[in-house]
Amino acid sequence: MIILKSPQEIDLMRRAGKITAAARALAGEMVRPGVTTQEINAEVERFIRKQGAVPSFLHYNGYPASVCISVNDEIIHGIPGKRVLREGDVVSVDVGAYIGGFHGDGAATFPCGTISPEAQKLIDVTRQSFFEGIRFAREGHRLQDISAAVQQYVEENGFSVVREYVGHGVGAKMHEPPEIPNYGRPGHGPRLLRGMTLAIEPMVNAGAAAITQLSDGWTVKTADGKWAAHYENTILITDGEPEILTAPAI
Ligand code: MF3
Ligand code: CO
Repeated sequence: MIILKSPQEIDLMRRAGKITAAARALAGEMVRPGVTTQEINAEVERFIRKQGAVPSFLHYNGYPASVCISVNDEIIHGIPGKRVLREGDVVSVDVGAYIGGFHGDGAATFPCGTISPEAQKLIDVTRQSFFEGIRFAREGHRLQDISAAVQQYVEENGFSVVREYVGHGVGAKMHEPPEIPNYGRPGHGPRLLRGMTLAIEPMVNAGAAAITQLSDGWTVKTADGKWAAHYENTILITDGEPEILTAPAI
């Protein structure tokens, strides 16, 4: 059952979304050569708590940090640590904030210093695939209209979408129904209705779609060692254009 949020609940989700967006932006500003991923995690956690919120990911299913930081061939769920970011890295940051009983969830991939044109294309196509997808995030469409649009845009640009991990409903719980694959068939899946709050999150591999799971129990990498990118916003289905609840402030 997909939970529809009331106007009051939507206001609370806006608040969680704003803090999530600001936390993601802070993480992105910190991505530069020489910084460690645990320094980014610590700053972002401090920021979230200063806003009166709680990091959504910390201790979620035993996850040990507030931010997921996934570098280069790491796709998602990288655990912050002593790794020092280097010029040319692509750095995916995923973060959530919980406040007033609701979660925001957002991610983006940032360049570390100067990166290759191929790496920049991967970042750009991944971000744009989200916007191609949400053209269909409106009443009158079905869920897989979003999925299929993401997949088509990614694949026509020569990249592939991850199959094993998907977007999701988000609200009082970080993961609510429905699952939102980044692949699918137009006209399939549940009908979209106003009041649905959804985390749309393309995970895009520069090479093949296959993944491998690291022995740390969390980090997901590309099987072929080529690089990956991630982009995610929490959105609200309305009676018109979708509202991006984790939109950057500027
Ligand atoms: N943002 C991730 C998602 O959308 C959640 C990270 S898993 C966690 O599903 F354990 F780190 F929280
Ligand atoms: Co998510």
